[in-house]
Amino acid sequence: MTKKHQTLGEYIIENQNSFRYSSGELSKLINALRLAAKVVNHEVNKAGLVDILGAAGEVNVQGENQQKLDVMANNIFIETLRNREIVCGIASEEEDDFITINSSDDNHQNKYVVLIDPLDGSSNIDVNVSVGTIFSIYRRVTPIGSPVQIEDFLQPGRNQVAAGYIVYGTSTMIVYTTGDGVNGFTLNPAIGTFYLSNPNMQFPENGKIYSVNEGNYIHFPQGVKDYIKYCQKEEGDRPYTSRYIGSLVSDFHRNMIKGGIYMYPKSSIAEEGKLRLLYECNPIAFLAEQAGGKASNGFTPIMDITPTELHQRVPFFCGSKNMVEKVEEFIQKANQ
Ligand code: AHG
Ligand code: MN
Ligand code: MN
Repeated sequence: MTKKHQTLGEYIIENQNSFRYSSGELSKLINALRLAAKVVNHEVNKAGLVDILGAAGEVNVQGENQQKLDVMANNIFIETLRNREIVCGIASEEEDDFITINSSDDNHQNKYVVLIDPLDGSSNIDVNVSVGTIFSIYRRVTPIGSPVQIEDFLQPGRNQVAAGYIVYGTSTMIVYTTGDGVNGFTLNPAIGTFYLSNPNMQFPENGKIYSVNEGNYIHFPQGVKDYIKYCQKEEGDRPYTSRYIGSLVSDFHRNMIKGGIYMYPKSSIAEEGKLRLLYECNPIAFLAEQAGGKASNGFTPIMDITPTELHQRVPFFCGSKNMVEKVEEFIQKANQ
């Protein structure tokens, strides 16, 4: 049950028994993410004051420049989870390979793995625009008691036990699901407590916002170009409004509240698009479906895709149900 103004801590305790697998372990894990979120929030908030803006001088495995805050957020989430010994493994957008978490007695009794995009929208940090963190939680598939393996991470999104994001915006929020709807909690920074502010979040079935990097229009597949022209056409409730922040978390958050579609298609310069299936698309797809929306690669629901590699990319269309179905229609028609 959700009660307005309940704290996240109270909510986690009260709802522990309604989790699909209730042993208290998942609650502890979400508590650890809550703590790490507060620490990262503190760092992000003072970004303009201390020397943490700009590039860290390293390039991650995907060839992208790492920002100092990318590295900092990555370390905070990993160390918070490692120190609590509540997961058996972590995969991060910022790490080349997955990390095995050894428990102090070395018997690997933890059953969850976490996959994380520690700082999403990091190119927005230097200009004081909202960024986020995205997380995804699975039960391991290899036997408890042995070190975690790659197949524990390469599971279809359907297997997710929980997923969510933190948006460090005009206010900081945690929005997450454990498969029983989506709830949003807003941080009161004065006392460092998250309060339930957005119970049972729902995508409007229809929306009037489309979010896409239109600078890449020329490189998009024909079906996506046709859909963009459809959004811009004067007919019925169109033209729609274009809104693109460039932080998936923030664009998704706005669209879930107001109704809209987010698109990162494949293109002639990025064969599989840009977004990462495991750290970005699967968790956002789980939230979208739990909120009555949809997420697709144009042909297949995102969560039905079986991943083959950790840093796999995938074309992504996500948002209000009718809008996602419409873009699928255009893509599939142009593909015939
Ligand atoms: P990240 O900062 O984790 O690398 O992710 C950035 C992603 C996503 O958040 C955003 O919507 C998209 O990249 C923006 O890409 P473009 O600049 O190509 O539009
Ligand atoms: Mn990202
Ligand atoms: Mn990132």
